[in-house]
Amino acid sequence: MRDNRTGQSYDVPILDGTIKASDIGQIKADDETPGLAVYDPGFVNTASCRSAVTFIDGDKGILEYRGYPIEQLAEKSNFLEVSYLLIHGDLPTKEQYDAWVHEITYHTFVHENVRDFMEGFRYDAHPMGMLLASVGALSTFYPESRNISDSDNRHMQIVRLIAKMPTLGAWSFRHAQGKPYVYPDNDLSYTENFLGMLFKMSERKFEADPRLVKALDVLFILHADHEQNCSTNAVRSVGSSQVDPYSATAAGIAALYGPLHGGANESVLRMLRRIGSVDKIPEFIDGVKNGKEKLMGFGHRVYKNFDPRAKIIKKACDDVFEVTGVNPLLEIAQELEKIALEDEYFIKRKLYPNVDFYSGLIYEALQFPPEMFTVLFAIGRTPGWLAQWHELVQDKEQKIARPKQIYTGERTRDFVPASERWA
Ligand code: CMC
Repeated sequence: MRDNRTGQSYDVPILDGTIKASDIGQIKADDETPGLAVYDPGFVNTASCRSAVTFIDGDKGILEYRGYPIEQLAEKSNFLEVSYLLIHGDLPTKEQYDAWVHEITYHTFVHENVRDFMEGFRYDAHPMGMLLASVGALSTFYPESRNISDSDNRHMQIVRLIAKMPTLGAWSFRHAQGKPYVYPDNDLSYTENFLGMLFKMSERKFEADPRLVKALDVLFILHADHEQNCSTNAVRSVGSSQVDPYSATAAGIAALYGPLHGGANESVLRMLRRIGSVDKIPEFIDGVKNGKEKLMGFGHRVYKNFDPRAKIIKKACDDVFEVTGVNPLLEIAQELEKIALEDEYFIKRKLYPNVDFYSGLIYEALQFPPEMFTVLFAIGRTPGWLAQWHELVQDKEQKIARPKQIYTGERTRDFVPASERWA
């Protein structure tokens, strides 16, 4: 690298297609000024870690968990097996799988005090706020979780988190509806048990249509990890302080709550409802092009041709609507997609439907209110957050996250006490 200010040249090694930010710190205009740094709001072109969990090629639309293509996992695996794969790095043997499913199943219950404080939320509390607080609170029930250097201990907390998320998510949902919380049923699969805790009323045994269970399981798989996205970065950043995994996961849930991340499918449904009918689409598209609107569910930081998850979700849409009947908003969504994909504005900016464009329609067909959509995302993303956290705490190269800044404020002002300023 050649510094044009001084004419001096520096050798900066390129490793794995990156240069080390610390290596360019040696580039200085003079001894007085600090070394060169990179300015990268939103980490658009900064690798923050090495990771062997998830591979994405945004240009080719490839998503792989531990090397396995998402399409194959969605079709042939199930969420708990995918969770095992993400956490452990390889697919389980029969014994490992049975032990894993058993462990997760038998940790779905939560301490009764968790139930008590969840009942203390306001009657109309957003379920995502309840989930965020409850997951954070779990750290007080498992103080040993702070011992993150012990691998058995880490395993225990990972199992507990994956197991308890559906319980906490379902109870957050029942709370707003004023319905009694339903305890887990250990005879049911992970996903069917979740549906049971959401929808069971007085029937002795909850049974869901297997096509709906499969569709929700596929949605969990599609959301299970997505390398260094906003919430995973939050989990890693907070986890880098060596806090317990419940607190780090709560940070991920907080990040996911935002409308640009996990909240996008909720915004998609609201947008489709606001558009109201197919004939209003051109007017809406004009609003997007004039910068007055945003086409929610379109665009992605990484995928610039298509989002492979969106393709699988379209298929799941068909399966669900076969059971529930077609969501009337589907027609608006399909027409909106068709018009947008032919429009120069979207083509030029490489804006395509992302995972959230159709997932909201499925969730609505499954009787979920929009506030629950992000909770579903959080349940699906938990093994991914934990796999990344697990990798982080064992990574010798990692340090506490602490970015630099470019200071733009005032300097060295003399403080005048209030009594003099206001005199
Ligand atoms: N509608 C209209 N214009 C858009 C959109 C959109 N959804 N997304 C990006 N653009 C425009 C943007 O205005 C910019 O235009 P210009 O170059 O004229 O200034 C250009 O496209 C590049 O966009 P960007 O904001 O620089 O892209 P980004 O990588 O920073 O943002 C994004 C990615 C996902 C936040 C953004 O596309 C967006 O806000 N989409 C809508 C929200 C959404 O669907 N989020 C879910 C993401 S997928 C689930 C997840 O992983 O969380």
